[in-house]
Amino acid sequence: MAPTQTLSNGDQIPALGLGTWKSEPGEVYEAVKTAIKEGYRHIDGASIYGNESEVGDAINEMIDEGVVSRDELWVTSKLWNNAHKKEDVIPALKKTLSDLSLDYVDLYLVHWPVALQPDIVFPKNGDAMLPLQKAPLTETWEAMEEAKDQGLAKHIGVSNFGPENLTTILESARIKPEMNQCESHPHLQQEELLAFCKKHDILFTAYSPLGSKDRPEMMKAENEPSLLENETIHSIADEHDATPAQILIAWALNRDTIVIPKSVNAGRIAENLKSAEITLTDKNMEQISELDSGFRYVNAEVWAQNGSPYTTEDVWK
Ligand code: A2P
Repeated sequence: MAPTQTLSNGDQIPALGLGTWKSEPGEVYEAVKTAIKEGYRHIDGASIYGNESEVGDAINEMIDEGVVSRDELWVTSKLWNNAHKKEDVIPALKKTLSDLSLDYVDLYLVHWPVALQPDIVFPKNGDAMLPLQKAPLTETWEAMEEAKDQGLAKHIGVSNFGPENLTTILESARIKPEMNQCESHPHLQQEELLAFCKKHDILFTAYSPLGSKDRPEMMKAENEPSLLENETIHSIADEHDATPAQILIAWALNRDTIVIPKSVNAGRIAENLKSAEITLTDKNMEQISELDSGFRYVNAEVWAQNGSPYTTEDVWK
């Protein structure tokens, strides 16, 4: 059984979840059912992934069949950037709940610290962005607090937030963010951000833990490093009679982060869950700590196109 992390009210979040970004609607239904049958109790999604109806169908089928009960399962979703205006947040969450056919999500996150014009799903140019003055993060957060008050989300948090953007919220929050979900893996270890989150009692979820090699080509850099082919990771995998993916997941668990590897393949879904059984040595952790190069597989350039009021520094600050 995978470990858990504890939220500030004592609730437990399963530390190993199934990621669903890039899982096509046609594949995610089977993937989520397989995962729940294998023992996953945490499913991570978002409205922008375009597959919440199928995720919801799979979850509800598993509940109806008695494989799992709703309260044993942790379901996360995320507010898309085009619904940051205060009056748009709860309707967006209600749409997600209707797609998932659930009464509540366990965790609702502000997906990015940037806003889009309400009618834009993905920006083709900088004009599609909405400056933060028109949709301040503090106002978006007030509506997130309201979502928690109404019981639509048991917990609330953010994603892709750096210390400065988190501080903006922390300074005025009535309910503090309980989670920050960010990219993290051996090439982007995020030690400073992790320490900041720990200090403020904010849990940290690591996304793209395997390097997201299935993301769109336009998001890829030339000659980018491959985590799954990294020599150090391979030699540690051999030492533990494990796979490179399992070492990457075990590393994330070992440093008390929550981790959400994505897979739509039944064998790999099972393989990834078994990572929780691997105990890395201090030497393994030291070897992996040397791989930190600050490389991001998910960069923020799309939010900082020509004419955008945001720079990439604004996104990560
Ligand atoms: P697939 O869905 O076909 O299994 P990330 O979680 O970093 O976004 O990475 C997801 C990518 O890693 C997908 O291409 C996924 O493919 C692949 N993947 C998931 N689990 C494993 C594994 N155990 N070994 C190799 N590749 C994996």
